[in-house]
Amino acid sequence: MIISTMEHTKLNYEFIKTHVEHDKVGIITLHRPKQLNALNTELMLELGHALKAFDAQLEVGCIIITGNEKAFAAGADISAMANYEFSDVYSSDFITKDWEIIRQIRKPVIAAVSGFALGGGCELAMMCDFIVAADNAKFGQPEIKLGIIPGAGGTQRLPRAVGKSKAMDMVLTARMMDAKEAEQAGLVSRIVALESLMPETISIALTIAQYPRLAVLAAKESVQRAFEGSLSDGIMYERRLFHSLFSTQDQKEGMSAFINKRPPVFHNK
Ligand code: CAA
Repeated sequence: MIISTMEHTKLNYEFIKTHVEHDKVGIITLHRPKQLNALNTELMLELGHALKAFDAQLEVGCIIITGNEKAFAAGADISAMANYEFSDVYSSDFITKDWEIIRQIRKPVIAAVSGFALGGGCELAMMCDFIVAADNAKFGQPEIKLGIIPGAGGTQRLPRAVGKSKAMDMVLTARMMDAKEAEQAGLVSRIVALESLMPETISIALTIAQYPRLAVLAAKESVQRAFEGSLSDGIMYERRLFHSLFSTQDQKEGMSAFINKRPPVFHNK
């Protein structure tokens, strides 16, 4: 469902669910379970809409984005991207246009992650202000296996979170990091048992929501300033490289192999 108008609280989303807990915490649940919450344009537009609605809703003091037990999100939707050309992604400003509304949100946004947070899913979690991970969470940037690179900030935010060495390791080998390693590396702020992921994250959000709103907004803005220095330049650089990889044969091969459940044969073209 493509949404182009802003209303206060919209309930008829197709790919997300929203509700408010304790009158203070806005919860957005990514809901494409069969595709492990793979992120397509429609979902990202709905997410952007819901985030803006909660940001504007006076009583809401903190927002949580979550998925399901198996997946926070397994990345951008590979089926949707498989036939994209460079001209498509560059001219439509893919990612920049629909995925980054979260950067405009002034209230704190917490990612409550269980299961897979891969590719764009890991990047979405990193766009949130902090990540609470269930003990079954797995993080990774496996885009290289598809003949592309992370395209939603992964090459910029991951090194800032875990340092260059581990970020290079993750981005170049496509390996996954479990919750324990992610916490030790500084990617997530806390690990909780899977069954208490939502109660614990809601309790954290309620703590934040009770504080004076202006101080909360200022605190978030100030920490972001320390972190985001030249992030915009880095992201733009990454985005253009990401777009250009849609002109390679190996991107078509990598994505088609994934969809057809066969090993890819790359030709370095
Ligand atoms: N896009 C589209 N569909 C996806 C998907 C994705 N990113 N991830 C999983 N799915 C689909 C699968 O195709 C499958 O659909 P069918 O049942 O119709 O076959 C369904 O979700 C379940 O997936 P699996 O059967 O593969 O589940 P699994 O438990 O065996 O494996 C997994 C789970 C390891 C996460 C595996 O699904 C996987 O490797 N997914 C792709 C991860 C990935 O490469 N993410 C990066 C995408 S590119 C990106 O995100 C670019 C960017 O930076 C913006």
